[in-house]
Amino acid sequence: MIKATLDKGDKDTGQGEYTVELVQWNDSFVIGYQEVDEDHQKLVGMLNALNTSISEQDTHEVVGKVLNDLLSYTAWHFRHEERLMQTFRYPDYVAHKKEHGSLIQQATELQTKFLAAEQELTQDVMDFLKRWLVHHILQTDKAMADFLRQKV
Ligand SMILES: [Fe+2]
Repeated sequence: MIKATLDKGDKDTGQGEYTVELVQWNDSFVIGYQEVDEDHQKLVGMLNALNTSISEQDTHEVVGKVLNDLLSYTAWHFRHEERLMQTFRYPDYVAHKKEHGSLIQQATELQTKFLAAEQELTQDVMDFLKRWLVHHILQTDKAMADFLRQKV
């Protein structure tokens, strides 16, 4: 059912097994607001776990569970950021929340189609999720953190 071939970033463990890291965490992702940085690190780990699950050709059910965990955590994390922005009256709150809403909508559609076996989690889909996350952290969340840091 899953036909994705994800070979970018594969690491040969030397034991005939491959670990696949779609996104390699590095210091450029640190936005300087610890509780959000911790969320982001977990989010990157969960996106990588989905990538690994696909590349290992796990069953549709298992991949679906990993995808669901990722989306649930993403929704929780967005609410976490939104609570912080509201608490400290972040001036770009509405625009930032809109970006979150747009991703949730696209990801939920993707999940619905995946569960109905109408959509596979292809390299393109994973690249979309990767690009979205990296761009959002580096641009939108960094700007938020610059503001929040002045409030603590
Ligand atoms: Fe955000």
